Amino acid sequence: MKKIVISTGGGDAPGLNAVIFAVVNSAYRRGWEVYGSRSGYLGLLNPDEMIRLTPEKVADITPTGGTILGSTNKGNPFAMPVENLAGEIMIHDVSDRVMKNFNRMGFYCHIAVGGDGSLEIAHRFAVEKGMPVIGVPKTIDNDLMATQRTFGFDTAVSTATEALDKLHSTAKSHDRVMVVEVMGRDSGWIALNSGISGGADVILIPEIPFDIAKVCQKINDNELHNKNYAIVVVAEGAKAKNSEVIFKNGGEIGRQELLLGGIGEWVAKEIKAMSGKDTRSLVLGHLQRGGSPTTFDRLLALRFGAAAVRLAENGTFDHMVALITPDMKAVPIADAIKHRKKVGLDDDKVLTAREIGICLGD
Ligand code: F6P
Repeated sequence: MKKIVISTGGGDAPGLNAVIFAVVNSAYRRGWEVYGSRSGYLGLLNPDEMIRLTPEKVADITPTGGTILGSTNKGNPFAMPVENLAGEIMIHDVSDRVMKNFNRMGFYCHIAVGGDGSLEIAHRFAVEKGMPVIGVPKTIDNDLMATQRTFGFDTAVSTATEALDKLHSTAKSHDRVMVVEVMGRDSGWIALNSGISGGADVILIPEIPFDIAKVCQKINDNELHNKNYAIVVVAEGAKAKNSEVIFKNGGEIGRQELLLGGIGEWVAKEIKAMSGKDTRSLVLGHLQRGGSPTTFDRLLALRFGAAAVRLAENGTFDHMVALITPDMKAVPIADAIKHRKKVGLDDDKVLTAREIGICLGD
């Protein structure tokens, strides 16, 4: 009988629990046992934080948001922040402890569900420590290479689109410009997909540095068509031409701690100053990571989970399950984390946006 461990790392995303459901049920049908490591690698560092997962335990979790295992983006065992007696934070490599526990508990393989950061760690365990690892691609940002989709993205886009639909009434009633900041870190997929679907007039994404004068020109042009309001969608990582991205905490500390945010407010202020229009801004933030996964994300997450157990059965390690329509394929984790998947300037969605009159700020 094989014994496998599953962990969820990085920011939560709708569909994590559906992956856990599929892994547990697919494994049990093969007569295997499944354990869940709490908060990323915590269970592998401290066996008290390991939970035995059975089909009964996961029976109702598929439609729920978040992860029953918990998650963290500060749990890299190769560089773990640990507080010493003097209260200082020291960085320790505790990866050997993880491996010792992994072997002591007799695990056959580790299914690591995560985005670029978590998959990078999983890949290091495979290459440097010989851990048999299988990756499952998660991120609302949809910025992982080698898979057409990550789960969580469809739900985040639906949430953002619904918010844009609702903002139209206030914008129209008050003749206002509403600026909406959405997530997406280094790539504009959420902004582009929700902006086109939610009737935005302007979409600003990290891949296209924008000219605020062009944005104001579009808003003023709306008036020529008797439209006295506008909806502007801004990805948190978008930046004006010849400027840098904006961080909430000034961007002065390590990359792990950088919190993007503030570009929506900046854009709103500039629009008000340049066009004189009544302008408001809002940040959708973590709303986009919450709630029940859409049918698309549930199905994708369930398929990823089942496919991950299939890879485990075949011993296809240091690989990630990937959607290459209509199939589930195994791709090297290294290919998925090489660099972020960005919006291409010739992407059909970019062309569509331009053709239906949406300004992309260039
Ligand atoms: O990677 C997903 C993501 O949602 C990014 O778009 C965002 O910048 C980040 O997580 C925020 O993460 P947190 O606030 O949880 O640190």
